[in-house]
Amino acid sequence: MHTEESAALFTRAKKVLAGGISSSARSTTTGSLNYPLYMQRGLGPRIWDADGNGFIDYLLSYGSVILGHADAGLMAAVSTQLQNGTMFGTCNPVEVDLAEQICRMAPGADLVRFSNSGSEAICGAIRAARGFTGRNKLLKFEGHYHGWVDVLAISNRPTAEQAGPADHPFSHPHSPGIPAGVVEDVIIAPWNDRHAVSSILAAHTEGFAAVILEPVVANNSCTMPEAGFLQWIREECSQRGIVLIFDEIVTGFRMAPGGAAEYFGVTPDMAVYSKALGGGFAISAFAGRRDIMELVGANTVKHGGTYNGNPLCAAAALHTLRRLAEPGILQAMRSHGNLIIEAIRRSAQDCGIPCVVQGAGTMFQVLFGLTNPPKNYRQVVQADAGRYGAFRQALLEQRVHVNSAGMACWFVSAAHGPDEADATCKAIAWAMKKLK
Ligand SMILES: Cc1ncc(COP(=O)(O)O)c(C=O)c1O
Repeated sequence: MHTEESAALFTRAKKVLAGGISSSARSTTTGSLNYPLYMQRGLGPRIWDADGNGFIDYLLSYGSVILGHADAGLMAAVSTQLQNGTMFGTCNPVEVDLAEQICRMAPGADLVRFSNSGSEAICGAIRAARGFTGRNKLLKFEGHYHGWVDVLAISNRPTAEQAGPADHPFSHPHSPGIPAGVVEDVIIAPWNDRHAVSSILAAHTEGFAAVILEPVVANNSCTMPEAGFLQWIREECSQRGIVLIFDEIVTGFRMAPGGAAEYFGVTPDMAVYSKALGGGFAISAFAGRRDIMELVGANTVKHGGTYNGNPLCAAAALHTLRRLAEPGILQAMRSHGNLIIEAIRRSAQDCGIPCVVQGAGTMFQVLFGLTNPPKNYRQVVQADAGRYGAFRQALLEQRVHVNSAGMACWFVSAAHGPDEADATCKAIAWAMKKLK
């Protein structure tokens, strides 16, 4: 595979972009090559890099491009809006249509506010929860990711030393520059551990403003909640007057039209959406119970933003949600994902390679070296990351593009069809043999 253009672009990028990249999450290598691939073009389920190499794409911009790249209907919706102006900094009709669509689709969404990135919407939801309860403390689960901003960038990826005891982990800042006061207000709990969560909730007699969680932990290789765990947390929060926030930034409108809340039948007090919401455009939302959101509505809890609800991104989101609400579309994506999941399991078994594949059809991940699905972050980090890297590299050689991080996941779009399934299953069998 020729990658000279990507190499040259990274040489230039390092001179002008900090670290040569625009997000700390971006990989700066491709297997043994010390530069990333520069993607230049996408159409449906495929992308092409700057050297013209084409790949079937299961990264899909971390699940955002849920209809596929350059989807014709979405392009038409956006083009119409482009002709009419991209933003006015005023109220606009499209944001109303979009908010109505979200309230119809998302369980528990009485009122909505728009932002532009997941991290921003998380800040809005947390501020609303704190304003509503008059409390500061947040309960966050170890390894869950809620954005790069200070408020919750705590214990995202702690080392064993930073993590502390398993049943009451330390709160460890994800980065220098996060003030100690912010860290102190975020209490960390182990995922899927009712006993530990109960004792943490009981120990903080001043109470919590919010419990926030990824209902399916997309940032821990798609770790699932154990049966009944979300329902149990729901009850605990209700009894203690704690605002339960589902971070549906990855799961929203993907796992089901109503996201993980619909999939698991558990309604949070608030939820945060982005990624699939915009179909590849920068938009996010926080939504929830009327009595909480009314504080934002009354301008008691402040929330602002120049780009919020801009008609260009709102038009993209409206088209995307209308498509995702159509009968059958998510089921077809789930079937495609299940074919790939089965292909990974079968190929691994044929090659005698121990691994676990977990997730929920439209989003999933393979963890090498494990024999049982992990229940929390500390078990996820036991997986063989080196083997995942080698598998990813072998797939790239077969022109299948997946997330470079084994802690993240693969995503399916509505544009992935039988041809892609067939080619991907063959690529998986080939890549798995290469790992032997
Ligand atoms: C579950 C989850 N929450 C929040 C975020 C932050 O979103 P953004 O990167 O748009 O700020 C992400 C991003 O990957 C995420 O996966």
